[in-house]
Amino acid sequence: MKLNLKNIVVLISVAIIGLIAVQIVWITNAIEVRKSQFDQEVKTSLVEVTQEIPKVIRQNKETKFFQRQQQLNQGVTDINALINAMLDNTPFQKFSDKITKEQLDSLIQSQMKKRGITTPYIFGVFDATGNHLYEADSIAKNHTSELVSEGINIPVFVDDFMLTQPFISIIFPKKNNFIFKKMWLILSISLLLILAVIYAFYFTVNTIFKQKQLSEIKNDFINNMTHELKTPISTIQLACEALNDADMNSKESQQTFVTMIKDENTRLKGLVDTVLKTAILDKGQMKLQSEPLDLLEIIHKVRGNFSLQINQLNGKILLDNELSEMPLFGDNQHLTNVFQNLIDNAIKYTSKAPEIIISTAKTIDSYLIKVTDNGIGISKENLDKIFEKLYRVPTGDLHNVKGFGLGLNYVKSMIELHGGKIEVKSTKDKGSTFILSLPITE
Ligand SMILES: Nc1ncnc2c1ncn2[C@@H]1O[C@H](COP(=O)(O)OP(=O)(O)O)[C@@H](O)[C@H]1O
Ligand SMILES: [Mg+2]
Repeated sequence: MKLNLKNIVVLISVAIIGLIAVQIVWITNAIEVRKSQFDQEVKTSLVEVTQEIPKVIRQNKETKFFQRQQQLNQGVTDINALINAMLDNTPFQKFSDKITKEQLDSLIQSQMKKRGITTPYIFGVFDATGNHLYEADSIAKNHTSELVSEGINIPVFVDDFMLTQPFISIIFPKKNNFIFKKMWLILSISLLLILAVIYAFYFTVNTIFKQKQLSEIKNDFINNMTHELKTPISTIQLACEALNDADMNSKESQQTFVTMIKDENTRLKGLVDTVLKTAILDKGQMKLQSEPLDLLEIIHKVRGNFSLQINQLNGKILLDNELSEMPLFGDNQHLTNVFQNLIDNAIKYTSKAPEIIISTAKTIDSYLIKVTDNGIGISKENLDKIFEKLYRVPTGDLHNVKGFGLGLNYVKSMIELHGGKIEVKSTKDKGSTFILSLPITE
């Protein structure tokens, strides 16, 4: 099997599922062991109870004997007591007459306590055919069949005279709860470990995919960049060759080529600047040179810069002004670049004649500027990413639109440096609106 990313993910997934399965099997086993341990302890307790029973019976006999003695001394003759006394130590004496249910209960309780079994129990004493030997209360009655068939039971050897062998049976309605409570620590540690492994796995895979995406984006950027640099460089080279040409005598044609070189050089400088600016932004070294300015003036200026381009495309940039001025303390150059970038995008990412609306408004403490276009829009899954550095929405039909995916990242950083926020709303094929809010500082 080739170890590519997909296979590794599959491999780790299988391993994790396997681990979880093993863990589950292990935990169920541990619970089973606990349960049988519990049953064993209960059984031992009951054995001790049966060993205590004869002692209690003997004590009961002695007390009864003394009571009768006293009654005789006082001349009282209780017929019932006399009959009972006659039955004593005969096979006809009922078990329930030898020891009371309460006495039995307290014996059981103290034995359970000794072994740390604190969960409530229900018990009953039965003859061999499953009949209650004590008058059963409603709880015991309701649980009769459970007690007889599923209870932990033990025979009671009272003495040789008993006609049938009674047995004590006991059940714990909240046994599972009790066992879970005892095991919560180990259960929660297992759960935490499983969650930790799943999370770490998720995180790793996520990082790998992000890194892969990043390297693709970087490749794109380098391709773009070289392409962009090539044009001015070769133009300059051609112009230089032309200037070198011996035939090139007229001042005018010389001038044309010099201007060409100058223009291309400016373009090169612009490209390098964009990249450098982002590099500086990256290191957090960008400092604003703030001064009192009018934001509205900046917007007008930028709009003017694009008028030629817009006219050529038969488009328009409308200003929807609520305000006559927008005084602000900010960096003139950077704020100009911000609007330059936004409008540049609005024109670039349109397949028809661009129609751009810039609207301004004011709240108590900030300016709200919206730049709306009728362009190609941005789909939902790309909307969060467009502010990321180097990110460009892959567009099939507008393939020749150039850019490095740095503009919006720069815009966002600048707006945030000014203490503001930028948001975008967009519908695919309808257009986009970039909403800036800038706190008013004067
Ligand atoms: N107004 C807009 N309409 C549609 N898509 C846009 C708009 N503005 C930006 N985008 C998308 O966001 C991406 C990032 O924009 P930006 O950072 O300015 O980079 P660039 O313009 O250099 O590609 C663009 O590549 C484009 O896909
Ligand atoms: Mg751009």
